[in-house]
Amino acid sequence: MGIERRVSRRRFLEFSSALGGIVGYGSLNQLFAQGKLTVTEEQVLGPFYPINKPLDRDADLTHLRGRRFSAKGQIIHLMGRVVNPQGRPLSGIRLEIWQANTHGRYSHINDSNAAPLDPNFQGYGVQVTDAKGRYRFKTIKPGSYPTGLDGWSRPPHIHFYVTGSHEALVTQMYFPGEELNAKDRLFQSAAPNQATLIAKAEPAGKGLEPDSLIVTWEIVLTAG
Ligand SMILES: [Fe+2]
Repeated sequence: MGIERRVSRRRFLEFSSALGGIVGYGSLNQLFAQGKLTVTEEQVLGPFYPINKPLDRDADLTHLRGRRFSAKGQIIHLMGRVVNPQGRPLSGIRLEIWQANTHGRYSHINDSNAAPLDPNFQGYGVQVTDAKGRYRFKTIKPGSYPTGLDGWSRPPHIHFYVTGSHEALVTQMYFPGEELNAKDRLFQSAAPNQATLIAKAEPAGKGLEPDSLIVTWEIVLTAG
């Protein structure tokens, strides 16, 4: 994900006017690199943080140890970096993720949706960022689900609990191009920094599962 996306519109305008709009792309990029990245917005924990975590908590949520079959749904390779506002990679950051299955159902006692459970979906995973601040999960794209309030349906999203040595960030990652994003009260509550919550998605291509996606999302912490 480019640094440009992390620079707020206001900051972009400040840069643009300072430059008089006459510099080339390369110079502009250098200036952006010196600018501060927007810190990723917080989101509510929600009612479905796992009480009973699966015994299998690895980075592959599509398969539970000992199970013959894999999770239903579109496979996504979810990856990115955790950085500070200056873009410095943060290593040793713990990331927990949890999400609905492809039908939009959580494996959680609080979830009363009628959508089916998927016994082969792990639904929760933990990773720690490497020396370059990177993380990676294999999972499925979560389905949308009704909240039970005024026809409000949550768009596909993945919950993140990010723990560093100085701070914790609870948030949610969203997918680009989802119609429900514009109507989602939680996503919109991140205004004016909703863009910090949107991942980039593209077809995975050769060597990976047909129809799977590469989803990249950079997380910016204040200190790490
Ligand atoms: Fe959720």
